[in-house]
Amino acid sequence: MKHVSMAHLGNMQKYWLITGSIGPRPIALVTSLGADGLCNAAPFSAFNYMGEEPPLFVIAIDRYGEESHRPRERKDTLINILDRKEFVVNMVDESIAERMARCATDYPARVSEPQAVGLDLAPSKIVRVPRIAEAPISWECELFRTIEFSEHRTLVFGEIVSMAFRDELLDEDRMRVHVDRFAPYGRLGGPNYVRTTDRVQLRVPTFLPSVGAPRE
Ligand SMILES: Cc1cc2nc3c(=O)[nH]c(=O)nc-3n(C[C@H](O)[C@H](O)[C@H](O)COP(=O)(O)O)c2cc1C
Repeated sequence: MKHVSMAHLGNMQKYWLITGSIGPRPIALVTSLGADGLCNAAPFSAFNYMGEEPPLFVIAIDRYGEESHRPRERKDTLINILDRKEFVVNMVDESIAERMARCATDYPARVSEPQAVGLDLAPSKIVRVPRIAEAPISWECELFRTIEFSEHRTLVFGEIVSMAFRDELLDEDRMRVHVDRFAPYGRLGGPNYVRTTDRVQLRVPTFLPSVGAPRE
């Protein structure tokens, strides 16, 4: 094993080691509305679910880096969410993966990414922010709270108020997702992604105190 202490690394070195180690990460393609009513879309993979009551998840949004033409500026997604207090998380599968990546271009705020990359918008049921019509699953969300834990990064906690599923993905009787039909993309380090089409099942045995062992 090679051991690396975080103490003497630069921010980008830490970023590459952390994001290269943790994966595949889920991808939230977030739609939000600007003050001018333009629909913005950007992907975020510092994203995961936090609980079901209330139904919460978190996204970590940093500032634009020095390599961008918008160095240190807040990202449009964060500005819009703080302003409107609502947004939509669209899940990403094969059908929209390439367009999702192109939504991460550091476009000026006046550019609507769905329009720029050729994604259609559909109205949401509860929030005013539209969802991506081609997305397999979309969550309509309200801002729960934010934590600005450093000068560069803000945690956005969202509360899901409604979900939209492509017809074949929802088992309405059991109120479950047909996970065998849903193949989200996952992000690895840098421009590397995985398809989730090769599946295995692993069961967790329950521990039985009377036997002193798990039941297989
Ligand atoms: C798959 C993927 C995941 C990303 N995850 C994050 C993330 O978790 N946090 C972040 O701040 N930026 C992330 N980005 C970069 C943003 O998508 C990018 O900065 C985008 O331009 C922000 O757009 P906006 O200004 O319209 O909000 C990611 C990019 C890609 C392609």
